[in-house]
Amino acid sequence: MNTEICSMKTKEERRLAILRAARILREGKLVAFPTETVYGLGGNGLDPQAASRIYAAKGRPSDNPLILHICDRRELPPLVRRIPEAAKRLMDAFWPGPLTLIFEKSEKVPLESTGGLDTVAIRFPSHPVAQELIREANMPIAAPSANLSGRPSPTTAEHVIQDLSGRIEMILDGGPVEIGLESTIIDVTGEIPLILRPGYISLAQLREVLGQGEFDPAILGKPDSALRPRAPGMKYRHYAPKAELTIVEGEPQAVARRIFFLAEEKRKQGFQVGILCSEESRLWYDASFVKTIGTRANEETIAHNLYRCLREFDEEEKEFVYSEAFSEGPLGAAIMNRLMKAAGYRILQAGGEDENLS
Ligand code: TXA
Ligand code: MG
Repeated sequence: MNTEICSMKTKEERRLAILRAARILREGKLVAFPTETVYGLGGNGLDPQAASRIYAAKGRPSDNPLILHICDRRELPPLVRRIPEAAKRLMDAFWPGPLTLIFEKSEKVPLESTGGLDTVAIRFPSHPVAQELIREANMPIAAPSANLSGRPSPTTAEHVIQDLSGRIEMILDGGPVEIGLESTIIDVTGEIPLILRPGYISLAQLREVLGQGEFDPAILGKPDSALRPRAPGMKYRHYAPKAELTIVEGEPQAVARRIFFLAEEKRKQGFQVGILCSEESRLWYDASFVKTIGTRANEETIAHNLYRCLREFDEEEKEFVYSEAFSEGPLGAAIMNRLMKAAGYRILQAGGEDENLS
């Protein structure tokens, strides 16, 4: 299949590209498009065949449900059985934006889109291209992140091209996304609102609006623990880079010393090595194979660059990568959730008892 890549630099280009993309979606075929979180791989959310095309293009297990994207709150009622009060308040506060809500699904939503579940995930993105595309296609668009299953989510059109070129009809190039991590998923079908996947909207923000809220306990531990995550996608070891990634945590200078020691040791053994650090500690590493992810003074830069850095390590064929931890700020839960998964939960304490095990 020839994948058309549409630049949208001028207003005219953008309008034409969106019109053609909408037509492709109405034919039941697939288009990748930018959102404020990551690029999505879109198909008609009410068409079972489009759903199976999405799973095939991504190489994704079909028990992993899709998010339906809408561009107006009025499109919500036909898709769900009821709208809980908590959902209304969250929508008032955060829609359009990086928040996905779980509802009981209506008859209209095919089980193929929800991985067989009787609930459905719905998001109203704020990105203007996403909104225009949904409006023009005149349907809820089912869209997982536009990466091959097991690769980091795409934050640029180039990432989508790397993964899906030849597998889908069209890619809308809207430049780099803003946030860089997938939306926060909140389940409001139960008594206590639960965060099923941490994202840009934090637990503190959820509690501010509803006065209560918790993380799904299953996402706080390793995926092999006895608890089953309520978002099926969270059970997979996503975001796995080719390199063995290790996170080192602790007092900043001790972390830098430990990482440098571990990296040098591997390098001397002839391995390709990478280091992921913040701007604040860059000077502590006397090495050329260091990648700066962003600044701790503005952790949005860290979220924004995380997936790009992981992809670059893959391209550079790194075999061992060592990363600082980035857990301090309001985005810390979301960043560390992705980083820990990429690391297969391998984390060391600098200055800790495991100092001599490397
Ligand atoms: O930011 C985002 O959410 C991006 C952009 C494209 O909107 N989309 C995205 O989709 O990250 P995806 O498919 O990569 O992740 C969807 C997650 C999966 O972990 C899935 O298990 C969960 O949402 N999910 C979907 N429907 C669900 C449901 N009914 N109940 C629980 N979890 C659900
Ligand atoms: Mg994904």
